[in-house]
Parts: sequence; structure tokens; C-alpha cells
Amino acid sequence: MRGNHFDLFKKFKRLKPYEPSVAFIGFLFFICCLYLFVFLLDYRTVNNDTGFHLRGPSFFVNWFGLNDASSSSSLVVKNEKVGFLENDCSCDIFDGNWVWDETYPLYQSKDCMFLDEGFRCSENGRPDNFYTKWRWQPKDCNLPRFDAKHMLAKLRNRRVVFVGDSIGRNQWESLLCLLSSAVSDNSSIYEVNGSPITKHTGSLVFKFKDYNCTVEYYRAPFLVLQSRPPAGAPRNVKMTLKLDQMDWSSVKWRGADLLVFNSGHWWNFEKTIRGGCYFQEGRKVNMTMNVETAFQKSIVTLVDWIGREVNMSKTKVFFRTYAPVHFRGGDWKTGGSCHLETLPDLGSSQESLKNSFEYKTIFQVLLQLSNNSKARNIGLLNITGMTSHRKDGHLSLYYLGPNVGPVPLHKQDCSHWCLPGVPDSWNELLYAILLKQELAQEKILDSTSQSSE
Ligand SMILES: *[C@@H]1O[C@H](CO)[C@@H](O)[C@H](O)[C@H]1NC(C)=O
Ligand SMILES: *[C@@H]1O[C@H](CO)[C@@H](O)[C@H](O)[C@H]1NC(C)=O
Ligand SMILES: *[C@@H]1O[C@H](CO)[C@@H](O)[C@H](O)[C@H]1NC(C)=O
Ligand SMILES: *[C@@H]1O[C@H](CO)[C@@H](O)[C@H](O)[C@H]1NC(C)=O
Ligand SMILES: *[C@@H]1O[C@H](CO)[C@@H](O)[C@H](O)[C@H]1NC(C)=O
Ligand SMILES: *[C@@H]1O[C@H](CO)[C@@H](O)[C@H](O)[C@H]1NC(C)=O
Repeated sequence: MRGNHFDLFKKFKRLKPYEPSVAFIGFLFFICCLYLFVFLLDYRTVNNDTGFHLRGPSFFVNWFGLNDASSSSSLVVKNEKVGFLENDCSCDIFDGNWVWDETYPLYQSKDCMFLDEGFRCSENGRPDNFYTKWRWQPKDCNLPRFDAKHMLAKLRNRRVVFVGDSIGRNQWESLLCLLSSAVSDNSSIYEVNGSPITKHTGSLVFKFKDYNCTVEYYRAPFLVLQSRPPAGAPRNVKMTLKLDQMDWSSVKWRGADLLVFNSGHWWNFEKTIRGGCYFQEGRKVNMTMNVETAFQKSIVTLVDWIGREVNMSKTKVFFRTYAPVHFRGGDWKTGGSCHLETLPDLGSSQESLKNSFEYKTIFQVLLQLSNNSKARNIGLLNITGMTSHRKDGHLSLYYLGPNVGPVPLHKQDCSHWCLPGVPDSWNELLYAILLKQELAQEKILDSTSQSSE
């Protein structure tokens, strides 16, 4: 050992046979000062006006050049991407990167009264706030910044309806918070039946009084109808999913101006057949149909329902694709975890997702029905890929409220998302698409009115 050290020392001496000059020491000192200056500057921006937070990774992100379009960093090359709205040719806004942005989040959970306690991670004790600071940056264009006032103006006299499972509810609550941040009088926003925000209500309708606009949520995790089995069904059939009928609440969805569907998280063996819930077509319960086939049929029924019941010149219809879960080393009941994930997965793409039926089904069905003009008009919020990088955005241990505290390590929630957080980005994309569609519409109106003059 000693010899080794000695050899090393000798080698070192050989590399530097003379005493370092004063100039060299001065140079080193200068470099140190420069380093400290940049470091402290960065530290300040992370801490500005939000009180104490753990230091964000922006320093590393900027230095290692991962951040290609941060608005806050002087170290970053000027961003020359064309705006999504200004751009006539198409830009795939779902293809891009997560970039650190000091101007995020767009709201604070403590300022938003429309949040389930369960989504308020920072108030429930999550120590880092890094997950609130990532902005989605498409590769070939820039998104417009979310402008709540502008969106509310666009939604005047309109109904926005979210239908789906609790991840859909996650997104709905995100939109409520985003929009309400532009309304100073919080008593002008209320649930029309006076229902409080609690975890298990079937539907909630919030009205923005000054805009005569409602933002509604209908819980229908399967979209199709789940109810009692038909007479004469086998004894082990406790419930059935009617694959050819929409959920009862569908009568309330159809007049909406903006409809956002999602489904997928409940289409698994655990939440269906294991609990005695089988699949039914017509009057017949099919005891052998698997979950994948059933999910596929439910989407066909959805598209068919849209074709029959929705006036596409009034209603814009979107389907939000599957939001990936991030249980590491197990699933939700076998101790899978996402606790202590504080950074997105900036590199790898998750190829396996592309093969999951929860993701693929909507694409397959729409392709199958691409003959149908209404099917072609269903917009996709293709967020699966971008969301797969955000293993840092989940509730993990912090969903029980500030008084109860974190849950035990084996009860982590790696499906739902902290707010502010990832679902805000889905809504920013929705906002961008709506603005773009509106511009396109105006252009058509312009050209027809010009040609008729
Ligand atoms: C409010 O919006 C609804 C549609 O959502 C519309 O039917 C109604 O006429 C509007 N009320 C006013 C006062 O504009
Ligand atoms: C509405 O805002 C006021 C003043 O900002 C606040 O004191 C009050 O708690 C808010 N109400 C709700 C229900 O959050
Ligand atoms: C049950 O569903 C499967 C898959 O769609 C199908 O192949 C089978 O014929 C159905 N069985 C009956 C009895 O309808
Ligand atoms: C569909 O909506 C458009 C625009 O609101 C309206 O003009 C039209 O009458 C509606 N069509 C039907 C069949 O309700
Ligand atoms: C489109 O419709 C035609 C006739 O209705 C049918 O023969 C064809 O298979 C359909 N194409 C697809 C891709 O479904
Ligand atoms: C959806 O996004 C993924 C990347 O996340 C892309 O590979 C896929 O082609 C997109 N699908 C559609 C229909 O745009």
C-alpha cells in the first residue's frame, strides 16, 4: 500500500517538476471565484420568494446542457423554435423533453381550494418541490404559456366535461386550479349542488359564475355501464360490465362543449373478474372473455356513442391516453415504490409502454374505425410517452393529509399525481390544441367571407 502511494506521489511529482507559479495560483483562485459566483446565483434563483426549499437540480441541469429552453437561465442558448400557434405546418407537441423552469408551478396548492387533500403533496409533507418545476417542451415548437384569463374567456357560456377514472379527476382538479388562479373572488366559483370536494363523489360540477362556465367531472372508470348481472347468470357473477352500453351518466355528458375522456386503469383482472365482475354483451354474460378484448369493445362502444349522441360541430372531443404508473419492485399491493424519486427520467424511453394494451387500445380502435368521420375528429391527448418519464411526480407516501402524515412504505401511491404537477402539463397541451383549432377555424371563416365578398 505504502509503495503504491509513494509511486503515485512520484508520478505526480514527475508531472509537475517545478513549483506552481504565482500566476497559476491566481488563475485557480479566479476559477474558484467564478464557480462560487455561478453556484450562489443559481442557489438564489431556486430560493427566490418561495421561502425555504431544498435546492433544485437546475444547477446541474443547466451545466450539463439538459435544459434546452429554460426561460430563466442565462447559460442557455437562445431558443429559436417557432411557436405552435404561429406555425402553419404541424408540430407534434407530444414529442419533446421535460425542462427545468423556475417560473413554474403555475399555482400553489395552498392557494387552490379545489384540490382533494390527497393531491396536496407539499402540504402533506413531501419535502422536495422539484416535481412542480418541470415544463413540457415540444421538440419542434414552443407552446403558448397557459393564460387562465384567456382560457376562461374562451370558455364563456361553455361546459367542460371530464369523464373517466380518478386520474381523469386528477386532471380535472388541475384544470380547476389553473383556471381559478385567474379569479380573485373565490366565492364566485362553486359546486352547483353545494357538494364538497371529497374523494368518492360520482360527479361534481363547478361553476365559474362570472364566465357562466362549468367544469365538470363524471366518475366512470370503465366508461361503459357497470351494474347488476342479468337474471339467470351464474352465481359467481356479482356484477357485469355492459360492453355495449355507456355509463348512466352519459346523458349528462353529451351536451358538453369540450369532452375529455380517459380510461384504462380499471381494465385489469384485479378490478374486474377477480371481484366477480364479468363482461356482458346483449343479455349474455361471457364467462371467457378476457380484459383486453373487453376494453377494446368498450372503446368501440364509446366511439359509436360519440357518433350517435355528440354533435361534433358543437362539441370538441378528446381522449387522453393512458397515464403510466411507476411502481418499482412490485405493484400497489406488493410493496412497489416510487418514494424518494425526485427527478424525472430524462433519458430513457419506455418501449414496453408501447406494447401495453392500456395504451394501444385507443389507437387500434380509432384506426379500425378510421372510415368513420366522427372517429377521425376525436382528438388524442397522446400523453403516455411524455408522462412515462415522470416517475418523480406521484403521491408516493403523501396522500393522507397534513394531520395524519405519510403512509407506511408498503402503501405507496405511484398512480396518482401530486398537484401542482404532471396533469397541469396535460392541460397546457389541451389549451394549446384548443387555441390552435380556434385559429384554424377563424382562418377558414376569413377565407370564406373573403371569397363571398
Ligand atoms: C350560460 O351557459 C349556458 C350553456 O352552458 C347557456 O345555455 C345559457 O344561456 C348561458 N346563460 C347566460 C345568462 O348567458
Ligand atoms: C376565499 O378567499 C379568502 C380571502 O383570500 C379566504 O380567506 C377564504 O378562506 C377563501 N375561501 C375558501 C373557501 O377557500
Ligand atoms: C366470449 O368472448 C370471446 C372473445 O370475444 C369469444 O371468442 C367467445 O365466442 C364469446 N363466448 C360466447 C359464449 O359468446
Ligand atoms: C350542431 O351544433 C351546431 C353548432 O352549435 C348547430 O348549429 C346545429 O344545429 C347542431 N346540429 C344538431 C343536429 O343539433
Ligand atoms: C371502410 O368501409 C368499407 C365499407 O364500409 C369497408 O369495406 C372497409 O373495410 C372499411 N375500412 C376500414 C379500414 O375499416
Ligand atoms: C403518440 O406519442 C408517441 C410518443 O410518445 C409516438 O410514438 C406515437 O406515434 C404517438 N401516436 C400518435 C397517434 O400520434
